[in-house]
Amino acid sequence: MAEFIAILDFGSQYTQLIARRVRENRVYCEILRHDTKASKLREHGVKGIILSGGPAGVYEHDAPRCDPEIFHLGVPVLGICYGMQLGCELLGGRVQPSTAREFGSTTIDLVGEDLIFQGLNDRTTVWMSHGDQVRDLGTSFVNLASTPTCAHAAVRHTSSKFWGLQFHPEVTHTPEGRIILNNFLYLICGLKGDWSLTKFIDEQIESVRQTVGSRRVVCALSGGIDSSVVALLLHKAIGNQLSCFFVDNGLLRGGEREQVVSTFAKHFQLDFHLVDAEERFLERLRGVTDPEEKRKRIGHEFIEVFRHAVENEQRHGKLEFLAQGTLYPDVIESFSPTGGPSATIKSHHNVGGLPENLGFRLIEPLRYLFKDEVRAIGRELGLPEQILYRQPFPGPGLAIRVVGEVTRERLCILRAADRIVQQEIEKSEAYLTIWQSFAVLLPVQSVGVMGDRRTYDCTIALRMVESSDGMTANWVYLPRDVLSTISNRISNEVAGVNRVVLDISSKPPSTIEWE
Ligand code: XMP
Repeated sequence: MAEFIAILDFGSQYTQLIARRVRENRVYCEILRHDTKASKLREHGVKGIILSGGPAGVYEHDAPRCDPEIFHLGVPVLGICYGMQLGCELLGGRVQPSTAREFGSTTIDLVGEDLIFQGLNDRTTVWMSHGDQVRDLGTSFVNLASTPTCAHAAVRHTSSKFWGLQFHPEVTHTPEGRIILNNFLYLICGLKGDWSLTKFIDEQIESVRQTVGSRRVVCALSGGIDSSVVALLLHKAIGNQLSCFFVDNGLLRGGEREQVVSTFAKHFQLDFHLVDAEERFLERLRGVTDPEEKRKRIGHEFIEVFRHAVENEQRHGKLEFLAQGTLYPDVIESFSPTGGPSATIKSHHNVGGLPENLGFRLIEPLRYLFKDEVRAIGRELGLPEQILYRQPFPGPGLAIRVVGEVTRERLCILRAADRIVQQEIEKSEAYLTIWQSFAVLLPVQSVGVMGDRRTYDCTIALRMVESSDGMTANWVYLPRDVLSTISNRISNEVAGVNRVVLDISSKPPSTIEWE
């Protein structure tokens, strides 16, 4: 059985980061609910357990707890922050709110020697982010580290295989955190590190072959990284038993359709179907200005167009499976202090997706992967950089960036302005740090002067944000010369625009898209 580490989630903002770090160490891990039964972990052959941090206090009567049996499984357990406090509380220590709260960067001094700190300096910088502390270790713990205001910054139980860290080894602000996690996995859990993305790809290919047999699979290819990687992975597994449909809804960015066709139809030679549905979408959007109505119509239309295209193709043999690019953060059943699983993404974000009741069996080969792992697989499968590093693009496309009515003419203006934004940002050093950068066409005309002529033309807003997941975002201030080139080029090259404005709002309170 492959090596497997379980991360029990108590609601920390860093839980997914712990998982990323474990996998970077070539060890497969999954994030599970905090109250997962020890018997279930044993069945899965768990080799070690990590208890995440979390916002609660262990002394609160409704504080989340783990199954105490996990300490009797005979496998090492590492408690981080709240996880440490919980482990200490359950194994005989005592936790209290601290008067001197430690948040942020601090220095710890190691006390004595322990495998968990092997190879570390005696004094090292760590990241703290919790108000509570373990006050009393009882008789069965040894202290491993302290700071002037936190006597027990790291501990080990003397008979159970339990280690606790008051700080966060998984964040980059703990520079030696990687060594600590590596020590836990290799020295304490005794793992060999048998997981790699290459191995994962091979396993998925084999599993898809087993599941599909000689039947056929359909994939809605959007040109984004997730569906692109799914398509290539399946193509590798089952060749032309996979049929891909790319819907051109007339709301794509400039050059996007050409790039997708040249990559998948020409270069990779997939069974590729281009569905040209521009007319249908524009017709459905005629006269509509309400953002939600736009989204609704686009969503419905996409499903109809896709269904129709697939029905046509079924004349050549039934398509039994639907391959989708669902990723791990969408399926983790985590503990959330605000209640329920962690899938808090707004429902409107599913616009451009497919409903479950289309009658297919689902294949989701990426459902245990994080985004950067998907990117690494895409690279291994030969996806071009432009797709690997493509910015997120919403399902409703440019329709939600043309504020007001969507017409062919207004799309044309936006596309031209947006192309300039892309070109200039790709040239600038900011490209890889920006989450999204695009133009928005506003329903505002204003007076300008061009040559000796008075103009009364449209306004383009520039939207540039940095973010790690799209849930929150900060606006980005590009260097003045980049902004200036973008502005000059748009007013000179895009007929119908005489004004360019900069959107300097963060999310919240704004959203990234304007509609
Ligand atoms: P907002 O505008 O809500 O967007 O701040 C957050 C992120 O989600 C993208 N987005 C969408 N993606 N279908 C999608 O696939 C949608 O309907 C949709 N709406 C917004 C947006 O581009 C940003 O990255």
